[in-house]
Amino acid sequence: MFVSDCLDVNEKGHLTIGGADTVEIAAQYGTPVIVYDENAIRRNCRAFVGSIGEYYGGNGRVLYANKAFSCLEMCRIAKEEDMGLDVVSGGEIYTALKAGFPAEKLYFHGNNKSVDELKYALENGIGRIVVDNPEELSVISELAKESGRTANIYMRIKPGIDAHTHNFIRTGQIDSKFGFALETGEAMACVKLALKAENVNLVGLHCHIGSQIFDVDPFVHAAQVMMKFIADIKSETGAVIAELDLGGGFGIKYLESEEPVGFDAYMQPVSEAIKKAAAEYDLPVPFILIEPGRSIAGAEAVTLYTVGAVKEIPNVRTYVSIDGGMTDNPRYILYQSSYTVLCANKADKPRDTVVTVAGKCCESGDLIQENTKIQQVERGDILAVLSTGAYNYSMASNYNRVPRPAVLMVKDGEVRTIIKRETYEDMVKNDI
Ligand code: LLP
Repeated sequence: MFVSDCLDVNEKGHLTIGGADTVEIAAQYGTPVIVYDENAIRRNCRAFVGSIGEYYGGNGRVLYANKAFSCLEMCRIAKEEDMGLDVVSGGEIYTALKAGFPAEKLYFHGNNKSVDELKYALENGIGRIVVDNPEELSVISELAKESGRTANIYMRIKPGIDAHTHNFIRTGQIDSKFGFALETGEAMACVKLALKAENVNLVGLHCHIGSQIFDVDPFVHAAQVMMKFIADIKSETGAVIAELDLGGGFGIKYLESEEPVGFDAYMQPVSEAIKKAAAEYDLPVPFILIEPGRSIAGAEAVTLYTVGAVKEIPNVRTYVSIDGGMTDNPRYILYQSSYTVLCANKADKPRDTVVTVAGKCCESGDLIQENTKIQQVERGDILAVLSTGAYNYSMASNYNRVPRPAVLMVKDGEVRTIIKRETYEDMVKNDI
């Protein structure tokens, strides 16, 4: 019935997460509220770290893609699980450092890092900067020279692979704002520039083909393309690229019917493909990195809302309005994402009513799910939207001056707040 093992139904017929009763959580902490299960998150971290151990002799590192859900507590968890972090802005770097994350395990991505962000990264001794374009390469070289440092860089490559996912989250194809294209010769030209650039050390390559991908083949194909490019670099320049970052993108369950790739099912063929290519091209087996975000946190959280108006429009549809919406979950309005929705206080009852779940913003598109089956609900019921752990809070906004919800973490049935609910005062704190 559920999209994650961290969910269950107790003897009261209430939905539980990590053993905690979601209806009690809603009563105690208010709604909307996002609730994560820490043990489930840690299990995912360990599965990824373990799969590199098992299939790749531990010769790699798992980076948590912090953009999926960035906060101090997630950085602490990733640190404790011996992972690195994929960071994509000054704000994410700041959050990581504030959480005590070692700077050398931060990998800085982005297609348009500002000079201030690059300076900040260099000053703090960030591990790797993933260069996106030639202008950025020269800015990094200049800044590193000015400050007497050497920047360890990767180059982001578009491997020319079209992963079958939503258009806005596909990034491997030539028409993408991210990285250097292989087909046009742009990538090789910039490798040569990077090898000559002062105060810059080209240590690796990076690719990321997209997000919420269910097939293993595009990942294997990307690894093969990248290894071929490493071989081409060696034969054209003599340089040996020692690190290969393969990005993230592993799909998760939003719906019970979905079948994501298991962590092992990914790492085994990808490891084999890399080792085979290394032997074929006479290259050392590279240190690899993977960057899961969604698959660490996505399925391990639920958002709880209180039902307000239930508006039945005869022969049209029934709108069930909730006390949150696109401000805490903009994924439906952006990508028409699928979600499983259920009534947390009637979780043992059949989901036999078709409704449209609507947010509270002044925006007709502010919906969480259209024509979805849930239990019969009425004002005051608690609605749970499942798999809201990735790209929900991190993409939340204050549209209509709606405060962002609180975020809670459950561990062994104990609940704690990890991000406080915003207040009305927070809505005006930067206004002058
Ligand atoms: N590495 C890089 C360079 C990335 O750009 C991303 C995601 C990841 C890793 C992590 O991908 P994941 O494992 O989470 O799929 N807001 C969209 C997703 C955007 C993904 C951005 N990049 C959504 O809500 O579906």
